[in-house]
Amino acid sequence: MPELAQPTDDGLYIPTVGKWSSDKHYYLSRYMDAFTTSMRGKWAGLNYIDLFAGAGIERIEESEVLEWGSPLLAARTRFPFSRLHLCEKSRVRYKALAARVSQVRPNAQILRGDGNERIDEIVREVPKDSLSLAFLDPFGLHLEFETLRKLSDIRADMIIFFPDHLDALRNWEKYYLQDPNSNLDRCLGEGADWRSILDTTPQDRLAEVLRNLYVDQIRSLGYFEFEYQRITMKGHPLYTLIFCSRSDFAAKLWRSISIKESDNQRRLPF
Ligand SMILES: C[S@@+](CC[C@H](N)C(=O)[O-])C[C@H]1O[C@@H](n2cnc3c(N)ncnc32)[C@H](O)[C@@H]1O
Repeated sequence: MPELAQPTDDGLYIPTVGKWSSDKHYYLSRYMDAFTTSMRGKWAGLNYIDLFAGAGIERIEESEVLEWGSPLLAARTRFPFSRLHLCEKSRVRYKALAARVSQVRPNAQILRGDGNERIDEIVREVPKDSLSLAFLDPFGLHLEFETLRKLSDIRADMIIFFPDHLDALRNWEKYYLQDPNSNLDRCLGEGADWRSILDTTPQDRLAEVLRNLYVDQIRSLGYFEFEYQRITMKGHPLYTLIFCSRSDFAAKLWRSISIKESDNQRRLPF
């Protein structure tokens, strides 16, 4: 995979993020490259969807190194996506994102607002006979299950950054248990009886049980291939990257790019 030149400070807003962001971009950029290389010419078009797009450039904490964010990685693949569909809620990040992306991909759809609310506008713009890659990367439990349901109307592989340790397992007893419309309820969707399941699960199995519950919900949307990558910081698990597809070829592609782990990650058994 060709190396992209590192970004420089362009004077627009650059958020500082944790080191795990580099691991996330490692897997994402490798999959984008494999996806656009092997699927080109086979579909009417290839789309990239990013509902929590960020500002386009990030500064990694401690090292202060600048990295391309997910939408700019998508804008610069060797074999280009037909179109990018991006959404970002924060005004300051959106402004920087729109300025950066429109320089390289003037036909991109770039929306400001809540990705859960604007998903219909994106799905409407994606041609039915095309294939998409959707990257869903909220900070916490902000990706609603109903949004996945809407996305399942189009043909899309999904890479979900699921904040199991960072949010769900840290907060469920304190913040979510007593709130029937909590972020965890909206994330897992109707019918996911997480309260009784988590309540009766031993501590050391909570992450696995929660992930299986989430994946079973996604399975009900027609996805049947799932691959997982744990994202850690200083040895502590934070997120699980969940790859979801309806194609065994796509799952093979994911396995081929994730065999070699990024420097920070240890392969932990799932
Ligand atoms: C983890 S960051 C995204 C980083 C980006 N995907 C990347 O890899 O470069 C999450 C982003 O989602 C935005 N955000 C939070 N809630 C949102 C929502 N409901 N809809 C859209 N964007 C949201 C935040 O402002 C933040 O920029």
